[in-house]
Amino acid sequence: MNLNQRTTFNFPTSIRFGPGVIDELPDHLKQQRLKKLLVVTDPQLVTLGFFQKIITSLRNAGLAVEIFNGLHKNPVKSDVLGGVALLKKNSCDTIIGIGGGASLDVARAIALLAHHPGDLFDYEDSKGGSERVTGEIPYFVTVPTTSGTGSEVGRSTVISDDVTHEKKILFSPRLMAKIVFADPELTLELPPFVTAATGMDALTHNLESYLAKGLHPLCDAIALEGTRLIGESLVLAVIRPTLEARSKMMMAALMGAVAFQKGLGVVHSTAHPLSTLFDLHHGLSNAIMLRHGMAFNADVCEDRMASLAQALRLQSPGSGSLLKYLGELNAKIGLPLQLSSQGIKEEHVAKLSQLAFQDVCHQCNLKPVTEPDFQALYRAAL
Ligand SMILES: [Fe+2]
Repeated sequence: MNLNQRTTFNFPTSIRFGPGVIDELPDHLKQQRLKKLLVVTDPQLVTLGFFQKIITSLRNAGLAVEIFNGLHKNPVKSDVLGGVALLKKNSCDTIIGIGGGASLDVARAIALLAHHPGDLFDYEDSKGGSERVTGEIPYFVTVPTTSGTGSEVGRSTVISDDVTHEKKILFSPRLMAKIVFADPELTLELPPFVTAATGMDALTHNLESYLAKGLHPLCDAIALEGTRLIGESLVLAVIRPTLEARSKMMMAALMGAVAFQKGLGVVHSTAHPLSTLFDLHHGLSNAIMLRHGMAFNADVCEDRMASLAQALRLQSPGSGSLLKYLGELNAKIGLPLQLSSQGIKEEHVAKLSQLAFQDVCHQCNLKPVTEPDFQALYRAAL
């Protein structure tokens, strides 16, 4: 590690963490002198008891609450515009995203458009859009209800075009939440599949960011500890959930997302086209591709693989034991190991590989990845 160079590290997100912290949300908002809230969530969550309890506590505190739940699993621009219209109609001064990655991404995009003119995609990161995020952002709070994407501590949002379904990334450090209320009790009722798939997304974030190229010893340390927490708690959170296991998974998901500001890698580049073309759950895509991506990298980072194996408390530290662990993990948490189980066939490999090669994540992968490499990775996972 070469520390003899100039660089910048940023860890500015304020996180209130722990069982029951959601009860502190109304007082926190009142202390900030906020009055009119737009709560952004998904259509399923709005029907659950704990969500209604949060809304009731906000209203009982004298706060005006509008609820927006008109969003898709893979959010599109018209979802965001619907939320912006409701925000403006009610002159809301605060946006609270409650849910998984989709709800938090839409909430973040609404926060961006609240006081910024023009089209949402004018702010697309690849077109230099982050430079144009200069206006006011409403007070923005995130409340995760899954332990996976880590979008609660993120600074980007992924919104698709309604017609082409092309995913657009909007990014700005100014889009970070002012505060995160991370309450593991909100994840107690998560069903096993969601716990497993989102948990594998969190594991992939920690593993890939630790292996990503570039200098970031702070992120490296966070990724190792996040990996250790997942090793202790993921299987338990799926098969016999306790509050302790849920708390460790929520912390590990936060840590994975903080760590991946260093970068991700080849696994995420293989996962993204699986969601775009086949609507596969992002966490499930990672769960299937993870061991293949790790095997691809093993020959260039044996020392780092050994550290990951150590963090997971595997008996023999090294890439061999890490790959064996990953090969067995999916079955333990009820997830499939092969793409064919999801209807993906040899005839799909070429298109998947083409899109994976265009994906930006593998630019941070320690080992350069070619389109034929992607074809081999998908074939290995079939
Ligand atoms: Fe991810």
